[in-house]
Amino acid sequence: MKLIIENDAGTAATAAAQLIAEEIGTHDTPVLGLATGRTMEGIYARLAQAHEQGTLDFSCVTSFNLDEYVGLSAEDPRSYHYYMQDHLFRFVNIDLHRTHLPDGAATDLDAECAAYEAQIARSGGIDLQLLGIGDTGHIGFNEPPSSFDTRTRCVELDEATREQNAAMFGGDPNAVPHEALTMGVGTILDARRLLLVATGPAKAGIVAKALEGPITPEVSASAIRLHKNYVIILDEASAAELSPATLAHAQRNA
Ligand code: F6R
Repeated sequence: MKLIIENDAGTAATAAAQLIAEEIGTHDTPVLGLATGRTMEGIYARLAQAHEQGTLDFSCVTSFNLDEYVGLSAEDPRSYHYYMQDHLFRFVNIDLHRTHLPDGAATDLDAECAAYEAQIARSGGIDLQLLGIGDTGHIGFNEPPSSFDTRTRCVELDEATREQNAAMFGGDPNAVPHEALTMGVGTILDARRLLLVATGPAKAGIVAKALEGPITPEVSASAIRLHKNYVIILDEASAAELSPATLAHAQRNA
């Protein structure tokens, strides 16, 4: 594991964007796994800025997002399709035909999930998978318990996750879709490299659980410790509950 602790959310986003840009630079046809959510907004803003400054080319990038709400169309402003357009795709020269998200409005959700797995495989697999962590310890929408061999599938969202994401739905957790399509933990672990980013004091407890607690399907983020090539970027606030032993191994960029 490589653990990097930055001063604040802004510098954590800069470090994550730099790592993603480096990854893009090391492949002729990079395949990125992307995430959504508040943590990613600063990262995508920095990637868009690097593109605007002429230092980052997305023309050969293929992308696969982790998840999408069931029942929302790509045009729905609350969908993750829309989020990706709004925060990244419209600002960079990515070929939209090479961007992929599971279709939460598909009539046959099982077929959609199987097709998504097949598309990832056809692309040669994911070079770098970007991850956030939810209040339930989920990566993607892998709510507890999610066994480590799960693949892309339809899941029921925890109440805590609907509360976490209620802001986009007028503040009402019940207005958040109750189901989502998500890459499985197994799908995520198949990526050649993982990058998990967490910021802010609200993430401190679950970050400590994921990095220091038992490796268990009850905290799907703990599965990343089974991967042979993963990087974690935190800010001081989200690292606040880590033990001195873990912190001793961290690269601190304060
Ligand atoms: C979103 C996703 C989720 C989020 C997590 C953290 O595509 O896969 O796992 O990364 O819920 O969300 P934020 O960053 O909003 O706290």
